[in-house]
Amino acid sequence: CGIVGFTGTREASPILLEGLRRLEYRGYDSAGLVTGTGNELHVRKKAGRLAELAKHLGTHPAPGCHGISHTRWATHGGATDRNSHPHLNARNDIAVVHNGVIENYAALKHQLQEKGVAFRSDTDTEVLAHLISHYYHGDLTAAVRQALALVKGTYGIAVMAKAEPGVIVGARLGSPLVIGVGDDGTYLASDANALAGFADKVVYLTDRQLCTLNETDWEIRDQDLAPVSVSVSDIGAFLGTGDADRGEYPHYMLKEIYEQPETLANAMRGRLEADNATAHFGGLNLSAQQLRQVDRVIMTACGTSYHAAMVGEYLLEELARVPVEVEYASEFRYRNPPLDRSSVVLALTQSGETADTLAALRESKRMGHTTLAICNAVGSSIAREADGGVYLHAGPEIGVASTKAFTSQVCVLTMLALYLGRTRHLSSTQGQRIIDDLHALPETVRKTLACHDHVKRVAEKYAHAKNVLYLGRQYLYPVALEGALKLKEISYIHAEGYPAAEMKHGPIALVDESTPSVFLVPRGNVFDKVMSNMQEIKARGGPVIAVAGAGDREVAALADDVIPIPDVPEYLQPIVTAIPLQLLAYEIALLCGCDVDKPRNLAKSVTVE
Ligand code: G6P
Repeated sequence: CGIVGFTGTREASPILLEGLRRLEYRGYDSAGLVTGTGNELHVRKKAGRLAELAKHLGTHPAPGCHGISHTRWATHGGATDRNSHPHLNARNDIAVVHNGVIENYAALKHQLQEKGVAFRSDTDTEVLAHLISHYYHGDLTAAVRQALALVKGTYGIAVMAKAEPGVIVGARLGSPLVIGVGDDGTYLASDANALAGFADKVVYLTDRQLCTLNETDWEIRDQDLAPVSVSVSDIGAFLGTGDADRGEYPHYMLKEIYEQPETLANAMRGRLEADNATAHFGGLNLSAQQLRQVDRVIMTACGTSYHAAMVGEYLLEELARVPVEVEYASEFRYRNPPLDRSSVVLALTQSGETADTLAALRESKRMGHTTLAICNAVGSSIAREADGGVYLHAGPEIGVASTKAFTSQVCVLTMLALYLGRTRHLSSTQGQRIIDDLHALPETVRKTLACHDHVKRVAEKYAHAKNVLYLGRQYLYPVALEGALKLKEISYIHAEGYPAAEMKHGPIALVDESTPSVFLVPRGNVFDKVMSNMQEIKARGGPVIAVAGAGDREVAALADDVIPIPDVPEYLQPIVTAIPLQLLAYEIALLCGCDVDKPRNLAKSVTVE
């Protein structure tokens, strides 16, 4: 979800709408805002995309120079006008927007109902409006503090009261919030990118802090309302470096797929050290000696980042001989794994805000482990809380289905494996070879994109499928998972990724003439084995789409369709094979008439557990 607030000398609603537009990819089930004039609040909210709210504002403007707004990814209660934020108290004089989940909302709601409060939505957020109202006696900050003392769960909130024109109160626990300072006023947002071009300076809140904003000033206080000292930074340091405009591309996803030659070059810039045949990372905050003592790496992540971590497991074990475990952050955070002192916990995340990944990182820190993060969003919660880390520098990723972040994550993991490998057994000749391969990678990826026409033809042939299998082995098993995830996410076609040989133990039962299998079969150690698995599918009448080396006749003779890719060493195949799978999902989703950049039910950044 996204939050934007403004109080100043300009009309608030255009600023709020523009800010929400930049955050819409984080949730688009509904959008709403409230502005204030003198002693009146103007609430406008609509289910559906932000465009619905914008249209509504055309006929029902929301005047005033202060306001708060929200774009929602539904947790409690369906995506309806009624459940859209802001939520108000019974007297309609206090308004709240909220990211996160109030876990004890049912008990609180019950208590409030017993006192006669009538609820108007199914959301957990509405309890906040009533609770704040209950404690409100002319000091909004004090009322917010008292209300939050009763709350279990997570929140980033912005609150306004009719009786305090120009004042916005914010509070954070587990869900990001940043204050922006500009010439025309003061801002509050869940992401600095919403404030680009509006604010010059930003101040991040940390957990359990509250803030009070007015047109010209702001203040941050702790949970006891004692003032805290904070650091104010230039906003530039926290904005994605890439271009957040779609340019000529019809969709962000396509733009981001095509950006990969540059994003990979950016991930590597300044990090490869030819003289020592290694890589280096300024931000890891670990000396070579400390790294040498790392006996085990635990990688934790969600979604596409989890698949990148799985590739990382193969890379680190193969190139650096370091044992790796990969676990979904949502599972890891509730496990009690026996970790020894020399284990490092590495979180992978594009947004740096995924609630489960953040919680897993915090739990690891609490246990005293060194925590690292591979992250794209600069200044995000995970980037700030990890002991050290590596930025992807991939620029903003707007398409909800992650593409360029995945390949950049894998690229950074390859460099990390090189670095760790060179503190152990990798020779300088081997290191140098990896560096040469990596240097050639952006150009190789540019050539890979030339498969797009082949992909379009394959998409047309198979867009009607109800089930698709994605099969690969070793380095390419996680890529099969990622290919299947991409298709599911944006075309709503059921797809399963499987280790190609394991498919015999179940999924092969799905195979028939109408169930295509996408095989990842570039040349490598397991090529012959994968070819045998392909035979097994063919023998059962299943159509086979092969992603294989251009000009590989053996594959062409067996597969129904081939998507050609350049030959690369095995450890770079995950990056090169991911690209046709991204394009395939994109093309099939288009043919199915789906909203590629904003697929149903998903959000770019999931800040609830
Ligand atoms: C959401 C997004 C996915 C993403 C996952 C993890 O589900 O839709 O694209 O892979 O979150 O996000 P992160 O920002 O932590 O990489």
